[in-house]
Amino acid sequence: MKTEILKLLKAAPDYVSGQELCEHLGVSRTAVWKVIRQLQEDGYEIEAKRNRGYRLGESGDVFTGAEISSLLKTKWVGRNLVFLEQVDSTNDEAKRQAEKGAVDGTLVAAAEQSAGKGRRGRSWVSIKGAGVWMSLMLRPDFPPECASMLTLVAAMAVEEGIRQVTGISGQIKWPNDVVIEGKKVCGILTEMSTEMECIHYVVVGIGINVGIEEFPEEIQDMATSLYLCTGKRVKRAALAAAVAEAWELYYERFTKTRDLRFLMAEYNQNLVNMGREVRVLAPEGEYTGISRGINEKGELLVETEEGLRTVISGEVSVRGIYGYV
Ligand code: BTN
Repeated sequence: MKTEILKLLKAAPDYVSGQELCEHLGVSRTAVWKVIRQLQEDGYEIEAKRNRGYRLGESGDVFTGAEISSLLKTKWVGRNLVFLEQVDSTNDEAKRQAEKGAVDGTLVAAAEQSAGKGRRGRSWVSIKGAGVWMSLMLRPDFPPECASMLTLVAAMAVEEGIRQVTGISGQIKWPNDVVIEGKKVCGILTEMSTEMECIHYVVVGIGINVGIEEFPEEIQDMATSLYLCTGKRVKRAALAAAVAEAWELYYERFTKTRDLRFLMAEYNQNLVNMGREVRVLAPEGEYTGISRGINEKGELLVETEEGLRTVISGEVSVRGIYGYV
């Protein structure tokens, strides 16, 4: 009901009468009033006037399930939305939801993570109110070896979502970091549960640094936030909804061929260091070459003096010659 009332208030150019809300939703005036109170507590400015009804004012960065739902224009992504004020990790919650039978496309988002996880066993700083911390749970019918490509699809969706909400174009650092001005603004962690040749579910975890004003000294040179890049406060719910929508479009293109052939041109356009010299840090040793972009499997092609080498994600890092990017 919260989402419904929110949608009606957003759509109205002026006051919406209590009576109108009651009739539309088939509930009592007291029930409507209670939801209005909850929305005010969530941070919405709602004016209540005798004989006229309720009017939504300019609200700040409200990050709640109802706000995200009221903005979502997706067909299936996030139609089942789990929003938590605090959680250990949205990836872990998405896994718990999957084990309980949640539907394909379930989206888990939280205002704060107490044990946010990064790749390679690292932790992910997930300060309350300062980012979009969310995980998408999928039940694909393709084989497990296709799943690593999903992180590249997610990076494209995040880059597109950021562009739509802020007007800023980011870049992708292969395979899946989104960077702005040479610093990482988003990280993606994909986890999955498989059995034999079949995927039970995949969880794509997305962490976007939105309002973080300062990073710990050790990562200041590598990390940034949308606030630091734009000087403006970005609304997290709008960003989460924009990323979910972009995800749906890109993912549907991906599932047609179960590879990136229809996405690689766009991915390569946004790829950091495309056509430039990169350093590949592989377990068997380090080498340099010119980055020639990804192929349809999401592998990075690097032209070395010995010929074209194919870099597979995993334990490999690819850097520019001068640092993180
Ligand atoms: C990385 O190391 O770059 C990946 C970071 C992924 C962070 C996100 S935040 C939402 C989701 N929940 C987690 O615990 N991790 C991912």
